[in-house]
Amino acid sequence: MKKVLVTGALGQIGSELVMEMRGIYGEENIIATDIRDNGSKVVTSGPFELLDVTDGERMHDLAKKHQVDTIIHLAALLSATAEQKPLLAWNLNMGGLVNALEIARQLNLQFFTPSSIGAFGPSTPKDQTPQDTIQRPTTMYGVNKVSGELLSDYYFHKFNVDTRGLRFPGLISYETLPGGGTTDYAVDIYYQAVMKGHYESFIDRGTFMDMMYMPDAVKSIIDLMEADSSKLIHRNAFNVSAMSVSPEMIGQSIQRFIPDFTLRYKVDPVRQQIAESWPNAIDASAAKQEWGFRAKYDLEAMTEDMLQKLKVKLIS
Ligand code: SER
Repeated sequence: MKKVLVTGALGQIGSELVMEMRGIYGEENIIATDIRDNGSKVVTSGPFELLDVTDGERMHDLAKKHQVDTIIHLAALLSATAEQKPLLAWNLNMGGLVNALEIARQLNLQFFTPSSIGAFGPSTPKDQTPQDTIQRPTTMYGVNKVSGELLSDYYFHKFNVDTRGLRFPGLISYETLPGGGTTDYAVDIYYQAVMKGHYESFIDRGTFMDMMYMPDAVKSIIDLMEADSSKLIHRNAFNVSAMSVSPEMIGQSIQRFIPDFTLRYKVDPVRQQIAESWPNAIDASAAKQEWGFRAKYDLEAMTEDMLQKLKVKLIS
């Protein structure tokens, strides 16, 4: 990876990945693209281009113009939004992906796109979910993610494109809010804890899902992309996770720092159903073995850092 085009660069992952990569690879070498310009530091600290990922011609032109050797394709709708607008999700998530893969094939680029715990479904083993297992998701987002994993495998086997991917759990961060995801509660809870000392969770007590703190997610993308290709048995996509948690576990963790914090529940049936169709805890041993994945932040370390950063961001 020397020169990288990132799609969806103003999203939850992109906004932190771009800044980290600009620090490592040089500001000029990370080309951020998004459908909108929000004037943020991602836009102002290095090359930025407007790009609708369903416009394959423009994506191709930008990749050529900037002479990139890698595409990191992040632009996508998340699970709850995709459930509200399934056809839009198919067109955007799959249309954008196939455009990005085609350009990687035509210009001989390395390629990354995230998959998700959403690629699993109700018939998948719920605990210690293996790397290779049943994948019959019941959401449009999950259908997109499984299709994306298969398509990325196809481009590797058929065209020798160096495709790589991770099955991300819920990602928790203080920089940019996620939007329209099922795991978003685990971000909202920290914001509300700092702003109001109270949170009403749309995911029910006792519902376990995998989570990871954004610094670990960003590092895992870079580490996977820099890993020796010959060591990778699973390319698309590796299970990665740092913790398996329920809302009340995050609530208790927050109470260690904000003792008066209170948590109540107002369950959203749509997102609860999605959450229940996903694993409780996935097994990340293939990622550990094949390219040395390791998460630095557990729940306590993440809570401490999140609350500290959000106090600065929201209060001072
Ligand atoms: N965080 C995502 C979502 O909830 C899962 O990959 O949609």
